[in-house]
Amino acid sequence: MGAASVFAANAAQAAGQLDNPYAGATVYVNPEWAANATADGGAAIANQPTFVWMDHMGAIAGDGGRMGLAAHLDDAIAKGDNLVQLVIYDLPNRDCAALASNGEIPSGGLSTYETKFIDPIVTILKTPKYANLRVVNVIEPDSLPNLVTNADQQATSTDACRKAKSTGEYLQGVGYALAQLGALPNVYNYVDAGHHGWLGWDTNFQPFGQIAHQAATANGATVNDVAGFITNTANYSPLVEPNFKVTDSVNGTTVRQSKWVDWNYYVDEQSFAPALRDMLVSTAGFNPGIGMLVDTSRDGWGGAARPTAPGPMTSVDAYVNGGRVDRRPHAGDWCNQNGAGIGERPRPVGSGGIDAYVWVKPPGESDGDSHDQMCDPSYGGNAQNGNNPTNALSGAPRAGQWFSAEFRMLLQNAYPPIGGGPTPSGPTSSPTSSPTSSPTSSPTSSPTSSPTSSPTPSSGGGQRSCAATYAVQSDWGAGFVAGVTVRNTGTAATNGWKVTWTFGANQQITSSWSATVNQSGTAVTATNAGWNGSLGAGATTQFGFQATGAGGTAPTVTCVAS
Ligand code: BGC
Repeated sequence: MGAASVFAANAAQAAGQLDNPYAGATVYVNPEWAANATADGGAAIANQPTFVWMDHMGAIAGDGGRMGLAAHLDDAIAKGDNLVQLVIYDLPNRDCAALASNGEIPSGGLSTYETKFIDPIVTILKTPKYANLRVVNVIEPDSLPNLVTNADQQATSTDACRKAKSTGEYLQGVGYALAQLGALPNVYNYVDAGHHGWLGWDTNFQPFGQIAHQAATANGATVNDVAGFITNTANYSPLVEPNFKVTDSVNGTTVRQSKWVDWNYYVDEQSFAPALRDMLVSTAGFNPGIGMLVDTSRDGWGGAARPTAPGPMTSVDAYVNGGRVDRRPHAGDWCNQNGAGIGERPRPVGSGGIDAYVWVKPPGESDGDSHDQMCDPSYGGNAQNGNNPTNALSGAPRAGQWFSAEFRMLLQNAYPPIGGGPTPSGPTSSPTSSPTSSPTSSPTSSPTSSPTSSPTPSSGGGQRSCAATYAVQSDWGAGFVAGVTVRNTGTAATNGWKVTWTFGANQQITSSWSATVNQSGTAVTATNAGWNGSLGAGATTQFGFQATGAGGTAPTVTCVAS
């Protein structure tokens, strides 16, 4: 936990708790996830520990042929492991800001949550045979951050989040979970704290501390029930942005003024998590021994598209957009992100207030169905992502289901790369202190598109054809990022596809992802990557690229299927 653990021991430690439960731990690998990963080409990472999600009441006993909680704990003991990781995720009116993971308990169901969800989990965990297992719980992803930004009068708010706030059921539910689970001496609760691109503005940062303290003192809980907090759960925010820091400026203009940073005080989790911890201890009333976890399961942003140097010093936008490894159109995009990769492998950290890097979201499990707004590649966005493209992969199954194409993409774009290759340079960004000015929000992109289609006869069974749609996702004058959606418009599955276009001016592609892109003069040819050439009838996939020059008008694109 924190560097301050030399301070007077808090009550939790007095009760025999470890400072950092990950130190010296052998962490349980979920065999169900490992089997999926192995089957999809991920044997090299199938030995990594991922969290077991208690995401509905039926998951406790195990349903749909899945292992229940006791089966996982027994398996951990049988394998000689001593740490099991759980997500506690079933609040009434769950996931109030998004549409992708609404839960089974409606608003008003607090007593159901307490007696039919938390109590049965506690009953299992306190079985004497599990007393020597350390149990790490991530408590209710997104819930308290949603109370901070989405429950009042802001443009990002929803009626469901206003209700979650007015009923008090998020605070009461989190309080109950903390109190009941925290009463067990071998259990360590980490409360979800969003990510830098959510709470990194001063209008959200301190208010999170207040709301977290309210939850940690509600319904029987005390701050001693909180071992720490976790950032980046199921999100894609990079651990480290290596090519720029929030303190950088270009020609006297701070990068905080760039469209991407948008007055945030943090650009990555490595700077955000320790600063958040310090605030929670110094001003929000949490114990000095608390520690942070960071979910690094899908924040790698490697592969050919990863910038290796800072952007040009021509403007703050050129500098930031040219150098950032996070290739999302906007940091508010969170569903099945195209271009993302596996991040740091799980491991204890034990410095800077960070207990461990962990994989809470099991890589390969979908964030939401492609028909859900923010998971729909064609949805135009809303206030939560600055009205930008969603950057979501198409063809996604509902939240939690295995999404083979996403898993293969995550493997390909892993950073650090899987199985050797260059290792990342050390952390370069540093926390800032005492934020003073207030954030503004400024949507950045204006997509343009031009669909075309050109049928190709296929040798056997049905016709092969495809169409492509080209959209500029961000354009800072000296450079731009564009995405191309490829759609199978035929009746047979494709084996591969090729998209071509001619630039109208002197644009030059500098990197690309999810396709092999070659430019010769103004002519560009993009062919499918290994994992996205095969598209069923009606299926879509996306690739993208970054280029110098202005995005301008979208060129006419041609797609040929094979
Ligand atoms: C879903 C859960 C799922 C988890 C892990 C969440 O987005 O809502 O049902 O268990 O992801 O994949």
